[in-house]
Amino acid sequence: MFIKNAKAIKIFTDGANLDSIIELAKNDFIDGITTNPTLMRKSGVTNYMNFAKSAVNSSQGKSISLEVFSDDFQEMIIQAKILSELGDNVYVKIPITNSKGESTISIISKLLKEGIKINITAVLTYDQIDQCINILNNANHCYISIFSGRIADTGRDPIPFIKYTALKIREKNLKNVEIIWASTREIYNLYQALENDCHIITISPDILKKINLFNYDLKKLSLETVQMFKNDSDNANYKIS
Ligand code: E4P
Repeated sequence: MFIKNAKAIKIFTDGANLDSIIELAKNDFIDGITTNPTLMRKSGVTNYMNFAKSAVNSSQGKSISLEVFSDDFQEMIIQAKILSELGDNVYVKIPITNSKGESTISIISKLLKEGIKINITAVLTYDQIDQCINILNNANHCYISIFSGRIADTGRDPIPFIKYTALKIREKNLKNVEIIWASTREIYNLYQALENDCHIITISPDILKKINLFNYDLKKLSLETVQMFKNDSDNANYKIS
């Protein structure tokens, strides 16, 4: 949890390195874990279920999101149930479409009705946000992951998407639906997410380290930056002549 000016936001760690998950999950500051097949592949995970079980066992009972990846809706339901049974703290990540672009909203609705906790992932459009809001009710435990960094990659400001989702959640008074600021690109996104009523931000361990710079003295930071340039030019034995 990060608190600033009486506002609070939950911090999740976004990654697939088991050592890092074990370490960060022990930290009171971390409220949950997200991962995805791409992060898992980058981390060298070869056996999906072994990783998923170890990650749940390392999660200290904190929220952990594990993703399905089938294009076939019946298979997706089976995958979701297998993942959900790994622990009460598991949120099953269902991409808002399958890889053929077919909407998964009916599958999400069905799984939510069965009491499965869902993290609706890869949400990037207003239409997708509306689809999510339309099926949700107060009985559902659900995250909506707005891929803010990917929206920003296109030159669009992600904040209106977040504000819109927060407004829709308030209008429907959805008590157990939370917005995740996902695809975090820099630590400043934490402050943006906090100011714009996100409930959660998921951050990679590398970006998360920069939280130590919160309110850091800028003159000191300037000096340290120049010292870095000096050290590197000295160590490389650069000459200007
Ligand atoms: C969130 O749950 C996702 O795993 C993650 O934030 C995706 O980020 P990316 O856009 O960097 O792939």
